[in-house]
Amino acid sequence: MRRKVIAGNWKMNKLPNETIDFIQKLEPLVKETGNEIILCVPYTDLFYALMTAQNTNIKIGAQNMHFEEKGAYTGEVSGEMLKSIGVEYVIIGHSERRAYFLETNEIVNKKIKAALKYDLKPIVCVGESLEQRESGKTNEIITEQIQYALKDITSEQLKSIIVAYEPIWAIGTGKTATAEDAENAIKAIRSKLLEMYGQQTSQGVIIQYGGSLKSTNAKEIFSMPNIDGGLVGGASLDVEEFSKIATI
Ligand code: PGA
Repeated sequence: MRRKVIAGNWKMNKLPNETIDFIQKLEPLVKETGNEIILCVPYTDLFYALMTAQNTNIKIGAQNMHFEEKGAYTGEVSGEMLKSIGVEYVIIGHSERRAYFLETNEIVNKKIKAALKYDLKPIVCVGESLEQRESGKTNEIITEQIQYALKDITSEQLKSIIVAYEPIWAIGTGKTATAEDAENAIKAIRSKLLEMYGQQTSQGVIIQYGGSLKSTNAKEIFSMPNIDGGLVGGASLDVEEFSKIATI
């Protein structure tokens, strides 16, 4: 049985004092759950989040990193830097980074490799645009993204990777994929992993759904056999709402 992993993606929201307050409020609300809970916060909140989440079941992640170890890359943060303060997870290839910061499948692959080198666990995002969905290309696009993202990644390394299926048209729009559509896309991802890594390894990979998840729609989506929790954007900014989703 795969565990359920619920990750919040705060994007560019919340200051350190809000981070501390949020985690202090979240802790008692989620301490009994068997789900794995992760908060992916802005770089400037990471240290505060890590300190406040110590000795709780809340894990902390970053939302991006550079693939190089060090050097003249003004404004960038490396995997080694994240690891040095105790960060455990890192979102890689979010559609907003692909769209606004021109991250290609090749860059995503390099970042995954760099994250694994420093024992960071990547949450790798894939997903199709509305145009791609409407032209019937969903499975083709997402399996291609998986193939490129995981190029030269071994079965052993895959055990540290979480995949998040996030249809771009559902992110921040209030439109959620139906539970069936999300299940079908995630099934296609799992079949691709089967082709690449075999039955046992592919069955063990955590694959989340993301895109306008709320406490009112998450239960049905999380009940699908191939969906192992979610990556939550907007609804992760509210502690009550996030705790409801995290404890389903
Ligand atoms: P959303 O964002 O829940 O606000 O749609 C999800 C995400 O981008 O990870």
